[in-house]
Amino acid sequence: MAEPLRIGLLGFGNIGTGLIESLEANRALLEARCGRPLAVRRIADIDIETPRPVEVDRSILTTDARSVVRDPQIDVIVELIGGIEPARGFVELALREGKHVVTANKALLAAHGPELLALARDRHVRLFFEAAVGGGIPVIRTLEDCLNGNRIERIEAILNGTCNYILTQMLEEDMSFEAALADAQRLGYAEPDPTADIESIDAANKIAVLASLAFGFDVRYEDVWRVGITQLTLQDLRSAITEGYVVKQRAVAELDAEGRLWVCVRPALLWRFHPLASVSGVLNGLMIRATPLGALFLSGPGAGRAATSSAVLSDLLAIARLRPGAPLEPPFLDVPVGRKPLLSPGPEADGYWLRILTDGNTEAVADIADALVSNRVAIERITESLWEQDHSGATHVVEVFTAQAAEEDIRRAAHILDDADWSPPESTPLVLPRVD
Ligand SMILES: NC(=O)c1ccc[n+]([C@@H]2O[C@H](COP(=O)([O-])OP(=O)(O)OC[C@H]3O[C@@H](n4cnc5c(N)ncnc54)[C@H](OP(=O)(O)O)[C@@H]3O)[C@@H](O)[C@H]2O)c1
Repeated sequence: MAEPLRIGLLGFGNIGTGLIESLEANRALLEARCGRPLAVRRIADIDIETPRPVEVDRSILTTDARSVVRDPQIDVIVELIGGIEPARGFVELALREGKHVVTANKALLAAHGPELLALARDRHVRLFFEAAVGGGIPVIRTLEDCLNGNRIERIEAILNGTCNYILTQMLEEDMSFEAALADAQRLGYAEPDPTADIESIDAANKIAVLASLAFGFDVRYEDVWRVGITQLTLQDLRSAITEGYVVKQRAVAELDAEGRLWVCVRPALLWRFHPLASVSGVLNGLMIRATPLGALFLSGPGAGRAATSSAVLSDLLAIARLRPGAPLEPPFLDVPVGRKPLLSPGPEADGYWLRILTDGNTEAVADIADALVSNRVAIERITESLWEQDHSGATHVVEVFTAQAAEEDIRRAAHILDDADWSPPESTPLVLPRVD
């Protein structure tokens, strides 16, 4: 057999241990496929004393990640620490040292991806990150290798399994947002601090990475227009279902005919036959529209030890197949460094759904209609009803389905309504795009 691929692993936590477990479970098969032994030479973690779910030779463990990165006996660094620093420093050093890097770290890529990819190109090494977006769904390689004959027009996706689980549980188990979040935390789907998931930070990182790659734009996390799911109530989700829609945390990146890019993550009403509407629980899903292909739908496990290990292993095998010393072709998809302004808040929807709480004042419906029409927003339907809210008894609610409209016009109208006399304190109109 050929020379081994010598691997240095940084971070022996959830995914790091899952990677070793999956590698050992199928070692013979994987090595036969890539034609080389896959040798994990060193593993760095801050804590090398606590027993892990997999056993490794203790002599390869170290607390000094930098020494692993600098080790000349290592060909590839697998970064599974997470977060931006010190992961960025280790990845940059590894690339400068001429080592290939595999990472699952979307936060790092959404903050520094274009520079790190440029550095990898300069040093003639690879930076692979299949696990960073969509967990086990092979979306990065699909874009790079399978769709490289296409012009990508739009990516629409559910990229955060925790939010998708919460929204699914609320509906299926009649739960409030808070109860569904607590359930997700109990099952280990949500962190004790769930902010990154429920405020759409995690999904914003992922759509920034996808948009950069698919459209050749330098898109960073902070460029993504982002709204969390914390405002949604069980009644909102139920009302959407009655109208034939499912509420999902939807990430979108779209290139318009003038070459301008929109990137956003926000809750949206998806028509029940939209492919993403059927993605439930912790699953992730992606719809890619491209020419000449048309539409492609991918769905699968977006996180977890096993699924994420699958993606990291596929990157390692791709590196193992590179012939040592042979010149590397540049990747098909380039991400240039240099940000351009993006359009916000997001691609045009087929219309909007507004949910506005009132104190029952009989003028409210007329005021709402007036505010929308005077801001050039055409109304398809307006209804008033009484909702049983989670804890606060019955509430007067006005729902509006609008025709297609400019989002800034909708926002201007919502702002006026926020200040109305009949608007209960601390209640802001909820504005969700509708996708038919
Ligand atoms: N979990 C998932 O389902 C999933 C899915 C897709 C992608 N990812 C990505 O995979 C990466 C790893 O996630 P994870 O869930 O495995 O996180 P994790 O369980 O927290 O593992 C990270 C490990 O790195 C260690 N570490 C921290 N700083 C270090 C340093 N300076 N040197 C060496 N080790 C250090 C941590 O030690 P301490 O715990 O002692 O700090 C921990 O053991 C992240 O980028 C994450 O976004 C995760």
